[in-house]
Amino acid sequence: MRLLVCGGAGFIGSTFARQRLLEHGDEVTVLDKLTYAGREENFHDFAERPGFSFQRGAIEDPDAVAGAIAAAEPDAIVNFAAETHVDRSIAEPDAFVRTHALGTYVLLEAARTLKGTGEHGLRYLQVSTDEVYGSIEQGTFTEESPLRPSSPYSATKTGADLLVQSYFHTYGLPAVICRGSNNFGPYQYPEKLIPLMILNALHGDRLPVYGDGMQVRNWIHAGDFARAIGHVLAHGVPGEVYNAGGPDECPNIEVVKRIIELTGAEESLIEYVTDRPGHDRRYSLSSEKVRALGWSPQVRFAEGLEETVAWYRENAWWWEPIRSGDYREYYQRQYGLGLS
Ligand code: NAD
Ligand code: DAU
Repeated sequence: MRLLVCGGAGFIGSTFARQRLLEHGDEVTVLDKLTYAGREENFHDFAERPGFSFQRGAIEDPDAVAGAIAAAEPDAIVNFAAETHVDRSIAEPDAFVRTHALGTYVLLEAARTLKGTGEHGLRYLQVSTDEVYGSIEQGTFTEESPLRPSSPYSATKTGADLLVQSYFHTYGLPAVICRGSNNFGPYQYPEKLIPLMILNALHGDRLPVYGDGMQVRNWIHAGDFARAIGHVLAHGVPGEVYNAGGPDECPNIEVVKRIIELTGAEESLIEYVTDRPGHDRRYSLSSEKVRALGWSPQVRFAEGLEETVAWYRENAWWWEPIRSGDYREYYQRQYGLGLS
């Protein structure tokens, strides 16, 4: 299959690109704007492989999208491109609106124009998130649950999902949506809970826990989410939504304590800080629908976390340029704390 992977220089998009290229023999063209979160370093082990190519450009730029489509001649477009950090969406929402609303619209228009010209017809997959359903204290969200996003991040992701569904209903674009729970694993930018805590613990820096630390997240390994996306692309029914949640949930403070054990850091590094405004208490996804297509997650949280800590320990080449660059200013602004 020939794939155009938008946002493929990020954490999950590059995991997906690697899997499709190396395990499935697909041809992969990545279109990515290279924001602070997108990095060519994420292609280090497959950049030179035949069948892989990279185009720098934004999904909201029709010329960049047209150029990438002409180069890729794709059977499918998979859209990972997004601004993904909830805290940044609270501080500066504009890029979230631009990329999720305008960017998704530009991609959908390009896909609509191309529909039916590929050998098997062009498919479109939108990568989405459990955050579109909002918070759930007990029980679990299905694909039929109401959409109640709470942050500018999740609200704009929800808007993008609705636009995708409108292109299926109105124009017959064979589009599917795959909504994942909290991902973790190698190559995740250290603004997110797990890599931030691992790197701070390894450096002896404070471990900033929001509020009471009892918010619960449903953790899925990025390799498992990437496989779910591949599965939905191959077997999903156009117009449908598929949730892909991980096998384990865990309160944040327990995640931080496990990282302390795995890194040998001091528990006294934990610092309870001001809570995130509008903080969702718990996410939980039912994945019965995608399981019925034959997918199931392979990585349990405990083992995956141990491997992830080991990966960050062994791959300082990947995170050192981030931790010594603009990230330091972001961190100071966000936490009012310094980094060593
Ligand atoms: P990430 O922040 O690591 O990567 C996002 C990528 O998109 C980067 O390479 C960035 O350069 C690129 N990008 C951003 N704006 C762009 C634009 N306008 N045009 C082109 N490229 C652009 O994010 P991630 O964690 O890999 O998330 C990927 C997707 O998965 C997102 O759509 C996100 O909403 C979704 N998702 C993430 C998680 C998670 O826990 N990380 C969970 C569920 C769903
Ligand atoms: O649920 C899927 C979503 O998961 C994705 O759609 C988002 O793109 C992704 O960023 C993630 O959102 P969260 O807000 O859940 O992830 P984050 O890693 O930012 O935070 C996880 C939890 O940890 C959350 O309850 C906030 C808390 N937290 C986070 C940071 C960065 C802290 O307590 N301290 C921190 O320093």
